[in-house]
Amino acid sequence: MASSEKSKWDSNIAFILAMIGSAVGLGNIWRFPNVLYSNGGGSFMIPYIISIFFLGISFVLVEYAVGFKFKTSLSKIFYSIKPSLEAVAWFIIFVVFLITTYYVCVVGWDLIYLVLSFFQGWGANPDVFFTTSVLNASDSLSGIFTIVPWVFVSVFVIWLIAWFIGQKDLNAGIGKVSKILLPVLFIIVLVIVAFSVTLPGASIGYTQIFTPDWSALTDLNVWLAAFGQIVFSLSLGMSIALTYASYLPDTSKLTDNALVVAFSNSGFEVFNAIGIFSILGFMTFTSGIPFNQLVTEGTGLAFVVFPNVFNVMHPWSYIIGPLFFLCIFFAGITSVMALSEVVSFAIHEKFGFSRKKSATLVCIVGFCISTIFATSAGSYLLGIFDAFLNNFALLFGVLLECIIFGWLYNFDKLVEVLNNNSRIQMDPFWKIIIKYILPVCILCLWVQGVYTTMMDADFTSRLVMLCLSIIIFIVPIIFAKLPAKNKDYYKPIETE
Ligand code: PFF
Repeated sequence: MASSEKSKWDSNIAFILAMIGSAVGLGNIWRFPNVLYSNGGGSFMIPYIISIFFLGISFVLVEYAVGFKFKTSLSKIFYSIKPSLEAVAWFIIFVVFLITTYYVCVVGWDLIYLVLSFFQGWGANPDVFFTTSVLNASDSLSGIFTIVPWVFVSVFVIWLIAWFIGQKDLNAGIGKVSKILLPVLFIIVLVIVAFSVTLPGASIGYTQIFTPDWSALTDLNVWLAAFGQIVFSLSLGMSIALTYASYLPDTSKLTDNALVVAFSNSGFEVFNAIGIFSILGFMTFTSGIPFNQLVTEGTGLAFVVFPNVFNVMHPWSYIIGPLFFLCIFFAGITSVMALSEVVSFAIHEKFGFSRKKSATLVCIVGFCISTIFATSAGSYLLGIFDAFLNNFALLFGVLLECIIFGWLYNFDKLVEVLNNNSRIQMDPFWKIIIKYILPVCILCLWVQGVYTTMMDADFTSRLVMLCLSIIIFIVPIIFAKLPAKNKDYYKPIETE
């Protein structure tokens, strides 16, 4: 497709909802409550809000301005800045692709739980059920050749949904699905929160959010945790904002849009945390389990703690349970849509395939890779992929983007793009953030992530990480070297 026929959002609301959908995901629902609780409760809001403003929104604006200005993929933009940088762009795109392959699997587990929640099929011992019946998990690579049928089927279903949406025209696919799923998602969360605050013992939970531990503010790790949550939750550095902004019509108000997206995303996670904490407070009240033992992160919270709660929340659990898993499902699907769009768009721009063909290719290859997470070794490998890709690779990508746009590209042009297209005007402080403050913060987060990941890893994990490092080094170089089929790809775009 030539750039003149390039897809465009049919309304600003489609763009905003798609952007919110890309940001609101598993990280908002099950990552945030634990991060909040273990980093000072109420006082965590201070570093969190500072991170949103100074770091999160600042970086999203860079991606918006670049995507909006160049209206093309990250790889073509980097190629135009300097041909040797094309491989760096493919590195970021490839990391996004690998993240998608395991993210899909977690959404697949949620799909299984959505079905089970109608009859509480996890039984009296959800912990054992999750590890043995759902995952059939082995804590080493030994189960890699044993496919777990239900996980395999659900992973296939999620990729099929991603393909079905991704191969359609932008507005008929991502635009339409976002317009339907996002409002439904907000209504579901509203119902869950409204119900959960009325539960006996709810206040044991939700007061934690508003009880500050001021001493936490002097701890550097708390500030890093706040920043890390913003990176994850706003999907920074994944070139999603850049891709979606490239479909914006010329009259869009960029800065205003970025603020709406960032605040909706954070508003969602804070509001949702009130519901999660209330439900956990109810559990402490009814079962006597200490609150701090219930606030776990990720899969443990969603697939073990919550099924346990639903077991004692009769009869409401037959409604709240399915709503809870549906909420994760919708949040997950809209993020999967965004992640796979980044990859399809890059393939489409370089190799000139149609939207349908690029989406098909991405989904087929993605599904093949995802099958390794649908084996008995799947959850073990997923943990390694997640730690490696999020802590090393993705943060490294954000750092590279800051350096490339802040230092190698004429940054003032981006300020111009934003100020020409917004009521809110950016001042020179933004440049200082992107050039100096953000890279330093990311570097600290990166060093901390590398250190903890390496400390926690066993020998096999380190070996898998080494293989991954080699793969994410070589594959992008191959993609950069492959000749473009789209004849416009090597045409210079204005980058000075
Ligand atoms: N922001 C989304 C979430 O919080 O789940 C999407 C996402 C972010 C997916 C980071 C994967 C990831 F590594």
